Amino acid sequence: MEKFVIEGGKPLSGSIRVQGAKNAALPILAATVLSEGVHRIYDVPDLTDVRAMCQILVALGAKVIRFPDHIEVDTTYIVHSHIPDDLMRKIRSSIFLLGPMLARLHQVSVSKPGGCAIGQRPIDIHLKGLEALGAQIEEQSEMIHCHVDRLIGTKIKLEFPSVGATENVMMAAVLAEGTTVIHNSAREPEIMDLQAVLNKMGARIHGAGTSTIYVEGVDQLNPVEHCIIPDRIVAGTLMAAVGATQGEVTLENVNRYHLASVIDILTDMGVKLDWEEDRVRVWTEQKLRPIHMIATEPFPGFPTDMQPQMLVLLTLADGTSQLAEKIFESRLKHVDELIKMGAKIKVDGCKACIDGPSELTGAHVAATDLRAGAALVIAGLCAKGTTVVEGVPYIDRGYDCFDEVIKSLGGQIYRKQTSPSFISNSSTV
Ligand code: EPZ
Repeated sequence: MEKFVIEGGKPLSGSIRVQGAKNAALPILAATVLSEGVHRIYDVPDLTDVRAMCQILVALGAKVIRFPDHIEVDTTYIVHSHIPDDLMRKIRSSIFLLGPMLARLHQVSVSKPGGCAIGQRPIDIHLKGLEALGAQIEEQSEMIHCHVDRLIGTKIKLEFPSVGATENVMMAAVLAEGTTVIHNSAREPEIMDLQAVLNKMGARIHGAGTSTIYVEGVDQLNPVEHCIIPDRIVAGTLMAAVGATQGEVTLENVNRYHLASVIDILTDMGVKLDWEEDRVRVWTEQKLRPIHMIATEPFPGFPTDMQPQMLVLLTLADGTSQLAEKIFESRLKHVDELIKMGAKIKVDGCKACIDGPSELTGAHVAATDLRAGAALVIAGLCAKGTTVVEGVPYIDRGYDCFDEVIKSLGGQIYRKQTSPSFISNSSTV
């Protein structure tokens, strides 16, 4: 496994273009199954999760070619309905194939996606939504077999605004008979991007971005060309890294409306942001201020995927802050690693109390998921001395060449091979 070796203390500076959104690309790649033909998806980041999704599409019968600026997916021959177990275990997002495969082939078999470092990650809301559309779902020990004669539109109320479940139900409903109304749908920007893609393919959907999505079933869809929205979490991660290292960086390809809750918090902490369309200059002028309480919530609330990175920033703030992780039940594992670096954090259930400012010092730490890994990199960049971050494959799942991005901004970060003695039991997220 690889690790990052980081020499801290250097403020980040320069400019960088933010990658396309991982969490838009994955469901959109799954959606290509919904029609025959050749799709071209632009600005797809080169991530291990994206490569795994492409391997799944190939396993189902598609042809996938990656070009420098886009991925070409030919889904003319989707002939297999079983997703290989090893690929299913590689990425949770393989669950996004349930909806499109039911709509295309009327059957699909997958192994149950396991839990991961941040939580159990059940799929009950996905399955209830698909059953409401008429799917027969048979759960065996490790497998899930779904089949349906004809998907029939209906009214569905999600018991929680699950991002993945909203996307799966949307992708099943587009080829259903009649209209589907999804109440309590998730409102994330990635869902709006999926709606844009499906409508380009000939679907009739509206309401994405609100809590109610309307899908009028159609008989057939066509292949699509689409450019993925910017990755709001990568943009937020880089903003946090600039704040932590007291640097000055210009980010390009950022949608400020996708980051409103993060921008509010950063601004309250004293991070300066100067916008010009989809470009933003980020810098700090004074000590960071604490935040009384941040709680992670579904969009438009503060995103759970920015929680670990924000926690690092709060350790540097001049005072006491509180942060509650209310989306995933075990997404505070990075706290122990930050304490090794000198952070003063106490955890009580889903709440962390952070006493700042802390003078972080370099240590040998391990990432437990991709956002925790990015947070540990930020901590290493502002710590005194050398930090080793194990678990780089987690980071590579969501950040395209993260070490190269940081290096291009002046960060002293080096990718190295891990010695065999420090191989943690990795699990997927
Ligand atoms: C998506 O995961 C993202 N992944 C996650 O990003 C993100 O953290 C999450 O949404 C929340 O915003 C992708 O889009 C590929 P959920 P998803 O269903 O869809 C519970 C990252 O770092 N739940 O909205 O799996 C679940 O346990 C990743 O990029 C059920 O109980 O998230 C969690 O507590 C991590 N039953 C909550 O809902 C279900 O059937 C939110 O999960 C589904 C979810």
